[in-house]
Amino acid sequence: MAEDDADIDYGPLTGLIGTWTGDKGMDVAPEPDGTERSPYFETISFEAAGDVTNAESQVLAVVRYHQVVSRKSTGKVFHDQVGYWLWDAERSAVIQSLTIPRAVCVLAGGTFRGTPDPARGLVLEVAARLGDPDWGIIQSPFMRDQASTREFRHTLELRGNRLSYRETTVLDIYGRTFDHTDENELVRA
Ligand code: HEM
Repeated sequence: MAEDDADIDYGPLTGLIGTWTGDKGMDVAPEPDGTERSPYFETISFEAAGDVTNAESQVLAVVRYHQVVSRKSTGKVFHDQVGYWLWDAERSAVIQSLTIPRAVCVLAGGTFRGTPDPARGLVLEVAARLGDPDWGIIQSPFMRDQASTREFRHTLELRGNRLSYRETTVLDIYGRTFDHTDENELVRA
């Protein structure tokens, strides 16, 4: 893994690198008797993390991130997420790998629309589905049985110093299927 190579081309991920904050977040989460809506603020930091070569042929540029989300009503952190965004230039493919501390991991694949130039605006789009042989979801036995993540879809829009996203996590919980959604608008700190 090359960490400090200034020549690495992060493609459409280049414009993410930095620290972003936003306070227009809205989380829609399941409750046993309905739905909970929680306005939130957050910080997401993206770091250039070099590149890797897989099987001496696939080169991935690596951006590491950490997302820390707090409920507006209490000021307390209620979601923490770490992961990587990866760029495969040869295949024009974008990958997001993430883990959340509920014992759930997602490997979502997709692509981008627009140009890699963040000043002109671009959209990253990735998705994963439970049992999909390409882009999947791994969860603990407890989560599989009680709060299974079936699907994950994430669209992120980047234009200059503005970043917005919408993500849908489809859950099987409390005897129903629930679209757990999160969205926010951020600016570069
Ligand atoms: C900004 C992002 C997110 C926020 C603020 C958030 C917040 C929440 C909240 C408030 C709950 C309800 C918890 C409870 O009632 O105890 C919840 C449940 C859950 N979330 Fe998220 N979430 C986010 C993203 C995600 C992602 C990306 C995943 C997985 C890919 C995920 C998976 C789950 C699961 C499996 C549950 C069900 C567990 C439960 O309710 O007990 N969440 N989330």
